[in-house]
Amino acid sequence: MNTQNARLNGKLAIVTGATQGLGADIAASLAASGAQVVVVGRGREAGEAVAAAIGAQACFVETDITDDHAIDRCIATVLDRHGHLDILVNNACSYDDQGLPSSRAQWLNTLNVNLVSAAIFTQKATAVMGPGGVVVNLGSTGGKFGADGRAIYPASKAALLQITRNFAVALAPRGIRVLSVSPAWTWSPSVERMSGGSTEVADAVGAHFHPLGRVGRGDEVGRVVAFAASAEASWMTGNDIAVDGGFSILGPDQGISPRTWFERLAARPD
Ligand SMILES: NC(=O)c1ccc[n+]([C@@H]2O[C@H](COP(=O)([O-])OP(=O)(O)OC[C@H]3O[C@@H](n4cnc5c(N)ncnc54)[C@H](O)[C@@H]3O)[C@@H](O)[C@H]2O)c1
Repeated sequence: MNTQNARLNGKLAIVTGATQGLGADIAASLAASGAQVVVVGRGREAGEAVAAAIGAQACFVETDITDDHAIDRCIATVLDRHGHLDILVNNACSYDDQGLPSSRAQWLNTLNVNLVSAAIFTQKATAVMGPGGVVVNLGSTGGKFGADGRAIYPASKAALLQITRNFAVALAPRGIRVLSVSPAWTWSPSVERMSGGSTEVADAVGAHFHPLGRVGRGDEVGRVVAFAASAEASWMTGNDIAVDGGFSILGPDQGISPRTWFERLAARPD
């Protein structure tokens, strides 16, 4: 649940891909921290609904982030309406990824959305930001470990963490910070689909990989994005912040002792 505070009062934030899922939750968390939020995405109806649910602190600007002119129009609209841009959250993503058999078109499209468009949006948004500006990129535990059936999405997320470091160095002289926030499994449309719409099922499966015993909730990620974007994080730049219920602290043994693994083997029916 989002708790109200004023740490982003007076700030203008853009959240890409905020028409659903974590983007919508992050937009709501930034608003709860006092920011004016621009919900950016492709679906007008869904985007306007997200902005309306947040209320007077939010508006929707229809933007396909793979189109440079659309990004320019989005930033011009924000400056026209608000006069300043302080925070960019690169959240939009594509999960189109078949792993090893993926086609060239899938590689180019998914990298274009997840990586290249985040880089270009960062380039254009930071050009109009002053000192105190912040960019927050959405990483993922998916970009930190090997996995079957996927290649493009994890590669894009690993690369996002790298450009977080590069852009942090490039923008530090202008007083602009760049951070990434990396969730593990978080309740969102994809987890909802896989669990048949049940948070209980999602939590039961997620309990195997997250020491805190469930999947995350969007506002738990959103509140950390709001912290990263605030002056409370003024001495942080270029780093990745794990928001994953402990997922990334586990090794391949999932934190289960060798004795327990052997006991489980011995207890297996022949
Ligand atoms: N859901 C999770 O469990 C999870 C875990 C780790 C990281 N993340 C990260 O969080 C972010 C959001 O994930 P999600 O699961 O909510 O995703 P989602 O698929 O529900 O939402 C992604 C949004 O991006 C938008 N988008 C895609 N292409 C676009 C384009 N060209 N222009 C504008 N918008 C575009 C989609 O329309 C959608 O609204 C992603 O960066 C993802 O990598 C999610």
